[in-house]
Amino acid sequence: MSLIQSVQTWVDDRFPSLQTMYKEHLSEYYAPKNFNFWYFFGSLALLVLVLQIVTGIFLTMNYKPDAALAFYSVEYIMRDVWGGWVIRYMHSTGASMFFVVVYLHMFRGLVYGSYQKPRELVWIFGMLIFLCLMAEAFLGYLLPWGQMSFWGAQVIVNLFSSIPVIGPDLSIWIRGDFVVSDATLNRFFALHVIAVPLVLLALVVVHIFALHEVGSNNPDGIEIKKNKDPKTGIPLDGIPFHPYYTVKDIFGVAVFLAIFSYVVFFAPNMGGYFLEANNFIPADPLKTPPHIAPVWYFTPFYAILRAVPSFAGTQVWGVIAMGLAVVVIAFLPWLDRGNVKSIRYRGKKFKTALVLFLIAFIGLGILGAKPPTNLRTDLAQIFSVIYFGFFFLMPFYTKNDPGTVAVPDRVTESTVGRQAAFLMYVGLAFVGAFFFAKLV
Ligand code: HEM
Repeated sequence: MSLIQSVQTWVDDRFPSLQTMYKEHLSEYYAPKNFNFWYFFGSLALLVLVLQIVTGIFLTMNYKPDAALAFYSVEYIMRDVWGGWVIRYMHSTGASMFFVVVYLHMFRGLVYGSYQKPRELVWIFGMLIFLCLMAEAFLGYLLPWGQMSFWGAQVIVNLFSSIPVIGPDLSIWIRGDFVVSDATLNRFFALHVIAVPLVLLALVVVHIFALHEVGSNNPDGIEIKKNKDPKTGIPLDGIPFHPYYTVKDIFGVAVFLAIFSYVVFFAPNMGGYFLEANNFIPADPLKTPPHIAPVWYFTPFYAILRAVPSFAGTQVWGVIAMGLAVVVIAFLPWLDRGNVKSIRYRGKKFKTALVLFLIAFIGLGILGAKPPTNLRTDLAQIFSVIYFGFFFLMPFYTKNDPGTVAVPDRVTESTVGRQAAFLMYVGLAFVGAFFFAKLV
């Protein structure tokens, strides 16, 4: 027995077998052989999670969670700590890239019906991750103690005060003070660096365990476990995750890191979308910035909040609509009555609904980032109706969907035509979003 083998046996006799885990989750986890680039985003989300934790630990070594020092400690990290600027930009870029990756990961779920039976729990854990991620980003944004940190937190925490009866006390309880202050900064720091990341990590583990219990979906939405080799019991359309997808994912990681590095080194503020200009000014409780908007990844939900008019002087309906806009996504497995999973075999109604939903979501994102005008509010109201219509009408338009195609027994490979059509749609979406942002 070699030294490595004997160490392995020694550990296996005293610990849940690492070898069994390695087999179950990597070398003998049979994933469908037709994964396309949409399947990069799960492993990329894992990568960004690790990046955020590692860079976060290094930032904590020099950051001071004190209202009098926080802003200057970040400046100190940027200017005086060796390599501090790159760590800080990696962390701030990582926050935005996390949402890019997770939004694409979730959209993949929509496109291929990955939330449908038997992956409902995978989706629910995913939604809990999404909630934690939003909380984590919101808490972290207060820490640099710039104008946007302060006023963003002030606006969002104030939303809680519109809840009847308990609202005003609840917002004081969250802040630990009557206004956002040193006490708020301290608790947000504690939650951001330890409490939420712990929950996030645990949720990611159960997310992947739940997925590996039922097996991965794929771009055809075919359950590969239905076609197994009678002798080996291995799915005929399955290939071991390791080495095939570990190698494929490394390619995804390389492309991602190239884009990530470009942003970190050449465009860390990303035109004010990743880091806002106002946040380079120390927080001033006496000076409200003229336009307060959250970071881009919250703007679709913020636009829904603003689209709902306040009744009898309370914003509570807007707050409810905003909350519902997030929570309703968790119910997709039960709203979708379609008998096929993947967009490839769906009918016209679902395809139209998905395109409208995408337009509404991007439109809301653009509108939420801009100061409100009458036209923008009207448009946000139309997009909000489409957004909710997509979910609440889903049981009806997915049930009888003309044009639904019979799903083949075995998985298929993507064709050049399909890829060209996809690139064309992406191009159209970018051009459309660009002109819409310029026009409104
Ligand atoms: C920190 C955030 C997240 C991490 C690290 C993560 C990780 C992963 C990984 C590694 C996979 C397997 C590889 C893949 O299919 O791409 C996966 C699959 C999946 N994730 Fe996530 N995930 C995250 C967030 C989410 C969210 C927010 C949702 C949805 C609400 C979600 C829903 C799913 C679904 C449905 C699958 C199965 C997809 C399929 O088999 O087609 N995940 N996730």
